[in-house]
Amino acid sequence: MRVLVTGGSGFIGSHVVDRLRAHGHEPVIFDLVHSPHHAREDVATVIGDLADREATRRAVRGCTAVIHLAAVADVNEVVADPIRADRINVHGTQMILEAARQEEIARVVYGSTVWVYGNSPVEGELDEDSAIALPSHLYTATKIAGEMYCRSYNELYGGEHTILRFGIPYGPRARPAAVVPAFVLRAQRGEALTIAGDGRQTRQFVYVEDLADGVVAGLLPAAADRVFNLVGEEEVSVRQIADTVRELVAPVPLVHGPERPADVHIGHISGARAATELGWRAETPFEEGVRRYVDWLAVTNGSPVAADAASIAGSAATVLRQESAEL
Ligand SMILES: NC(=O)c1ccc[n+]([C@@H]2O[C@H](COP(=O)([O-])OP(=O)(O)OC[C@H]3O[C@@H](n4cnc5c(N)ncnc54)[C@H](O)[C@@H]3O)[C@@H](O)[C@H]2O)c1
Repeated sequence: MRVLVTGGSGFIGSHVVDRLRAHGHEPVIFDLVHSPHHAREDVATVIGDLADREATRRAVRGCTAVIHLAAVADVNEVVADPIRADRINVHGTQMILEAARQEEIARVVYGSTVWVYGNSPVEGELDEDSAIALPSHLYTATKIAGEMYCRSYNELYGGEHTILRFGIPYGPRARPAAVVPAFVLRAQRGEALTIAGDGRQTRQFVYVEDLADGVVAGLLPAAADRVFNLVGEEEVSVRQIADTVRELVAPVPLVHGPERPADVHIGHISGARAATELGWRAETPFEEGVRRYVDWLAVTNGSPVAADAASIAGSAATVLRQESAEL
């Protein structure tokens, strides 16, 4: 199947491209920049902006499905420029849905986030049918808006869609300022790791190559017009992240700082539907995933691999703009 991957040059998208190929599909990247993780001749790429109606339509043409991942994914970038975040995350998603409608694309798979469960009134475990509250964060507002557009395009015009709510991804190619990379870097430099509050706050991480397999599973017939959480079942505390990094990299000191007021508290999220209906589970234990990240860093020194000089320059600019990831 020929599959357009918007944001295919990014952290998650580049792994999705790899897993699509491993599953025998033909990925095409649509992104502002070439992938720093692939040789240019290896993956068909359309360089363009989601905001460009003609570019999105041309990119979509001839594909059977679209996996839509391009977004402002860095919450700090969203806060710094909410108008741009809306243009890319909301309007850009509508551009893709519109292009898919006009080109009669069979399936649009949308990369959302478990942040949509923030503020949920539900006590206990959350699943895909849990009520979603109005969001307090602009990033979440844009991602929920994207889900809403997927749903209403589907209702009005037909065409299948799949919404995937990602847990917190980590692993090779992660942005340097995300929590795991930041802790690893500090430990490598022999610096103390700072934990906000008591460090007992937990997140459901998902190893990025597992996540990419789950995204590919979003193309299955069983995923049509469904919502799935793609999360690791394991709850990992910030303290555990620090301890894992200290064990794998260097036994640097721990320092406790004040709790971050902006932390979004979300209850435990069930991954049961993806397991039952798609046969997908996040298999990689957290410690093993961090080990693979550390190994990848040792081989690449944190730089993109298999890239030519020009695409490295492009990605470096991207990386510099990305100050921190979702946590
Ligand atoms: N990283 C996370 O913590 C996380 C968690 C949950 C969900 N998500 C979602 O997963 C998706 C991928 O996130 P990521 O971490 O890989 O992000 P990323 O920033 O690594 O990749 C996003 C890609 O989109 C491209 N892009 C941005 N604006 C574009 C535009 N106007 N036109 C075309 N391409 C454009 C960027 O160049 C980049 O390659 C996003 O939709 C994000 O909201 C991310």
